[in-house]
Formats: sequence, C-alpha cells, structure tokens
Amino acid sequence: MRIILLGPPGAGKGTQADMLSKKLFLPHISTGDMLRAVMGSGMELGQKAKAYMDKGQLVPDNIILDIIRDRIGRPDCREGYLLDGFPRTLPQAEALDAMLAANDNAIDVVLNIQVPLELLLERLTGRRGCLQCGTIYHQLYSPTKTEGLCDACGGSLYQRTDDCEASVQKRLEVYEVQTAPLIAYYEKRKTLQFINGNQPAHAVMLELGQVLGLDWEKD
Ligand code: AP5
Ligand code: MG
Repeated sequence: MRIILLGPPGAGKGTQADMLSKKLFLPHISTGDMLRAVMGSGMELGQKAKAYMDKGQLVPDNIILDIIRDRIGRPDCREGYLLDGFPRTLPQAEALDAMLAANDNAIDVVLNIQVPLELLLERLTGRRGCLQCGTIYHQLYSPTKTEGLCDACGGSLYQRTDDCEASVQKRLEVYEVQTAPLIAYYEKRKTLQFINGNQPAHAVMLELGQVLGLDWEKD
C-alpha cells in the first residue's frame, strides 16, 4: 500500500507514521528526517538544505525529487511505503504521480491530518526528539519518564532548530501557500481521506485504522 500523510507542521505526521509503520510493516519515509540525517553527515547537500530548513522554507523540488526517486526505488519499498512530509508542492505531487505511473503504480490513499492552526505552535515548540532512535515526545502531551532522556532507548533528547517560534510561523505560512493546495489535488483524484488530528495520538491512530479498513481496537 502506498500512503501519503498530509498535514501542516505539527499535525502529527511523524508520530502517526511511526505507529503505522510498525502495524503495517511498511517503511516510514520522512523527507524531513532524511534531510536532517544528511545535515548531520557534513555533506555539502546538508549545508545547502540547512539554509532553507532553519528559515522555515522548503528545500528546492529538484533536490527532494532526487532523494525520493532513490528511496522509493529500493527493494524495501516494493510492497509500499508511508510518505511523511512529501509531496509538499504541486510540482512534487505531479512528479510523484509520473514516477509511479511509469511502473503502473499509483498512490492508494492520502490521509490528511487536520489540526486547528492555533494548536500547532504549542505542539512544535514543546516537541522533543530522541537523538538516538528518533522517538517523538512533547513536554506536555507525551513527556518522558526521566526528563531529557528517551523512554525507549535512554538516548538524549534534543529540540529541532526549526521549532523556534520564528521558524514555526514561517513554516505555517509556507504550508498554507505551497502545501495546502495539495488537498484539492488529491480530492480531485479521489484518494483523500480526512482525519481528526485534534484528539489524543492513540485515538488518531484508531481513526486511521478505521479509514484503512483495519480494526486495531483489540491490539
Ligand atoms: P518536516 O520534518 O517534514 O517537518 P514538518 O512538515 O514541518 O512537520 P513536523 O515534523 O514539524 O510535524 P509532524 O506533523 O511530523 O508532527 P509530529 O508527529 O512531530 O520538514 C522540515 C523541513 O524540511 C521543512 O520545513 C523543509 O524545509 C524541509 N522539507 C521536508 N520535506 C520537504 C519537501 N518534501 N519539500 C521541500 N522541503 C522539505 O508532532 C509534533 C508534536 O506534537 C510532537 O511533540 C508530538 O509529540 C505532538 N503530538 C503529535 N500528535 C499529537 C496529538 N494527537 N496530540 C497532542 N500532541 C501530539
Ligand atoms: Mg515530522
């Protein structure tokens, strides 16, 4: 199954994709995580991406499309994948459709996680992530048992450099202008499903399961 998780910054795409990936045994492909990994590697591409990301702007389409083409062409993607944070512009969505159509494939479902805009700033400025395993936490909504340390692996927590208030405001503006038009794009293709992201993370996951026709209540 080829699934896209759509939604504004802080909607819970990464949180839900982590859970879905374990339940559906599909790779979680986050362009944001991939770019942060390149940034950490000291490669020139990482420096280039960092300049855009820290300002809350989108990285150019050609860079992102090269990364995605390579990633979805790998053997672990044969049965499908979960795309988180991609596509984010109309040219990216069109290029993805063309890439898939070349192999007689298509996106099965686009899950649009909706959260009122006024909640997103708090979600993002309170977010912390594990440096080691990537688990996502929130200072108020999903705190760790020991402050500063990951419950899953004991790794140290960090705050993303683009989760400061100024970058978040810019990211939300960029979302409205460049990414929100994808809702109409996928509605036209009849692949779009709306998900209420303004409920506890576990409840969001159950709603995703219902929409995908899977009963996770008993798990
Ligand atoms: P990316 O890393 O994709 O960031 P984003 O889209 O801005 O989304 P976030 O990761 O901030 O939010 P999320 O929806 O994953 O929420 P999360 O689950 O963490 O991209 C970063 C940058 O990379 C971009 O700005 C751009 O520069 C570049 N980039 C990436 N992809 C690109 C592309 N395709 N094209 C061009 N540039 C690209 O949750 C957020 C917080 O809320 C957490 O603390 C979590 O614990 C909490 N939370 C989650 N769910 C709930 C809930 N139900 N209730 C309460 N709290 C919750
Ligand atoms: Mg994310």
